[in-house]
Amino acid sequence: MHFLLPILLLPFASSNPIRFHPSHHQTSPIKCPLIFDGRIPLNTSLLDFDSAATSPYSPQYVKGENLTWSSIIQFPPSYPPSRFDPPSNYKPFEVTISDRSLFRVSQGVQTGFRRAGLLLKDDKNPAGADAADKGVVTFHWSVSQDLARGMNLSHEYMNVWHERADYAGNQFSFLAGIVLKVDGGNGVDEKVEKESWKVVGRTNNVVFRTEILWRGWQNFAVVLDYDKSTLQVFYSAGDDPLKAVTEPIANDNTGGGQMQLGMAKKPTETETVVWDGYQEVLGNRMEGQRYGGVFVEDSSNGCISL
Ligand SMILES: *[C@@H]1O[C@H](CO)[C@@H](O)[C@H](O)[C@H]1NC(C)=O
Ligand SMILES: *[C@@H]1O[C@H](CO)[C@@H](O)[C@H](O)[C@H]1NC(C)=O
Ligand SMILES: *[C@@H]1O[C@H](CO)[C@@H](O)[C@H](O)[C@H]1NC(C)=O
Repeated sequence: MHFLLPILLLPFASSNPIRFHPSHHQTSPIKCPLIFDGRIPLNTSLLDFDSAATSPYSPQYVKGENLTWSSIIQFPPSYPPSRFDPPSNYKPFEVTISDRSLFRVSQGVQTGFRRAGLLLKDDKNPAGADAADKGVVTFHWSVSQDLARGMNLSHEYMNVWHERADYAGNQFSFLAGIVLKVDGGNGVDEKVEKESWKVVGRTNNVVFRTEILWRGWQNFAVVLDYDKSTLQVFYSAGDDPLKAVTEPIANDNTGGGQMQLGMAKKPTETETVVWDGYQEVLGNRMEGQRYGGVFVEDSSNGCISL
């Protein structure tokens, strides 16, 4: 009668928070075909981020013009890995920004932003150029907070987004802090709004909000269905399996492009966001965001790793 076992165990599982137990799953919960794998194998060194031969990410983009990724990335000392990083194989990493995180484009240095954004090296920009721009695709990432390098949530941060190939917008974005009015926020300095993660769709419409946790991991997945033009969000905290937290919501997913993740700190008191506005001087300080479990999977057969 072992089929009864899961039912009998359920009350114990919910009243006994085993996620605080030090033992961690050793097998990967990734069940679907991988399109891009942004997880960081244990043997990766910081210098490996400076070469496409050893990094899953582009060594060039999108960062302060005189900085290397090996000076931007840090490995959190003895920090437990996230749900989708089996600890015997993968480790978390932290993306930092400082006063030097100034990106230069042909028009000049983007003084409005402080930014360090990783692009998966095989994620091609032109529309429809790769398997993550068609069918049904799930974008996964986990975040956790480094209290010594906390974000200043009076600012808006873009931490993960899928940017259109024409750079004129994003199919979705994952934001923290006070969202600027020009980005569809109300610009109000209200604790609850400020200290929450927001997943927004193509038109900056907020589709999911959850509080930023100061301890442990938070796991997010966004499903883009390019055929049905929908977006759906999955979420969990700690080591819990992901759960759907929205229905599939109508979203214009056209325009191709690339997923970017890291830190893009926007200015306050700004008109153009990119070229003007106020950025506090960080001095010797850095701000950082820890990431783990970054991967993109093919969900066209209905498969989603939870
Ligand atoms: C890490 O180990 C794997 C498996 O042995 C190897 O293929 C890979 O090249 C190594 N990576 C680095 C950055 O040394
Ligand atoms: C990078 O270094 C060059 C040469 O020193 C300097 O001219 C430029 O302003 C620096 N860029 C930034 C964004 O600080
Ligand atoms: C946070 O940012 C605001 C706006 O730039 C600034 O006025 C404030 O001093 C910063 N707070 C801290 C604690 O750094």
